[in-house]
Amino acid sequence: MSEITFKNITKYYGNVQVIQEFSGTFHDGEFVTLLGPSGCGKTTMLRMIAGFEKPTSGEIKIDNLTVSGEDNFIPPNKRNIGMVFQSYAVWPHMNVFQNVAYPLKIQGVNKAEIKSRVENILEAVHLSQYINRMPDELSGGQQQRVALGRALVGNPKVLLLDEPLSNLDAKLREAMRFEIKEIQNKFKITVVYVTHDQTEAMAMSDKIIVFNRGAVQQIDSPENIYRKPVNQFTADFIGKITFLRGQSSNGKIKILNSEQYINYSGDKTGDVIIAIRPENIVINNNNNLNSNSLRGVLKNSYYLGDVNDCRIDVDGTIIRVIAAGNTYNNFKIGEPVNLAFSEYLVFEDDGTDQTKILS
Ligand SMILES: Nc1ncnc2c1ncn2[C@@H]1O[C@H](COP(=O)(O)OP(=O)(O)OP(=O)(O)O)[C@@H](O)[C@H]1O
Ligand SMILES: [Mg+2]
Repeated sequence: MSEITFKNITKYYGNVQVIQEFSGTFHDGEFVTLLGPSGCGKTTMLRMIAGFEKPTSGEIKIDNLTVSGEDNFIPPNKRNIGMVFQSYAVWPHMNVFQNVAYPLKIQGVNKAEIKSRVENILEAVHLSQYINRMPDELSGGQQQRVALGRALVGNPKVLLLDEPLSNLDAKLREAMRFEIKEIQNKFKITVVYVTHDQTEAMAMSDKIIVFNRGAVQQIDSPENIYRKPVNQFTADFIGKITFLRGQSSNGKIKILNSEQYINYSGDKTGDVIIAIRPENIVINNNNNLNSNSLRGVLKNSYYLGDVNDCRIDVDGTIIRVIAAGNTYNNFKIGEPVNLAFSEYLVFEDDGTDQTKILS
C-alpha cells in the first residue's frame, strides 16, 4: 500500500502563494503526473511530498501515516520515498555499483544483501554490464538510469521524478518513458512525475493534474484532459488548438468579423469561443459548403513527412489544420480552401482562460 492523501494543502513563500488549496488522493500503484508551465508549483508539490518543504497549511498522509500535519512532521529520510531530479545527480567519484549501493550502505545493510539488491536493481534498469563504470564513462540516459536505480534500491513506497528526462535528446527521452513505465509495473510503485512536456504526460500517466499558477485546473485521465478539457487554459496547454471567437444564437455560432457560421447545439447565447484541434478539421477544395464548414485562404503549409501542417486565414483569423502528409501537393498557397469541422468544444467567453466548457 502506498496511497498519498492531501487535505487542504497550501504553500506560501513569504507573502506569495505558490500552491492554492489542494486536496486529492494519489492511489496505490498510480502514475500521477503534475503538468504545468514553468513556475506553476510542480517542484514545490514534490518537495512537500518528500519532506523538503513544509506546507503552510494542510495535511499530507502516506497510507495511514500523517507525514506533514498541524503538529507533526516526518523528515525526508524517514518517509521511504525514492527521488530522481532533473540534473543527473549521480556522484562522480563513485562507480555505478557504489552509486546505487549508497542508500543501503548508510542504512547499514550488510554487504551480501547490498550486493544482491544492487545487482537486481541494475538488471531492472538495464545497467548490469556497466556495474564498474564511472559516471563520466556513461551517456546521459545511462546516468539517469543510475539515478533511477539508486532511487529504487531502498524499496520505496513512492517514487518522485522531477523532469528526469529533460536533459536527454528526443529519441532517448521517448525510449526512457517506456523504461520508466516498465519499472513502475515491475515494482508496483506509486509514481509522482513532474514535467512540462505534455506528450510525456500523455504517454505515461494514469492521471494528469494540470496546474496553472499554483491552482489545479483539472485532474483527469490523459484522454479526458485532451478531449474534454474543462477550461481554455487546459485546452491550450495540452496539444495544439485554435480558438475562434464568435456569437452564438439559434443553434449557430457566427464567427467574429465574418459572415460565416458553425453549428452549435448547446444553450449558450452571446459571446463564445470555439476550440478546435487541428486534426479535427478536414481541408478540401470542395466549393459546396456544408453547414459545418468555413471558407478560407491557405496561408502556409509545411511538409513534415507524416503530416502537412497548414495555416488557413478565415476572415482574419488563422486556423491551424494538420492534414495527412500526402495532401501536401493538393493545395496551393494563396488559394481558397474549405475547412470541414468535426469534434470541437465551445467555451463561454468571459475574457479569462479559466472559463468552463459549456458543450
Ligand atoms: N525557496 C523559495 N523561495 C521563494 N520562492 C520560491 C522558492 N522555491 C520556489 N519558489 C517560487 O515558487 C513558484 C513555484 O516554483 P516551482 O519550483 O514549484 O515551479 P515549477 O512548476 O517546478 O517550475 P519549473 O517548471 O520551472 O521547474 C515559483 O514562482 C518560484 O519562483
Ligand atoms: Mg520544477
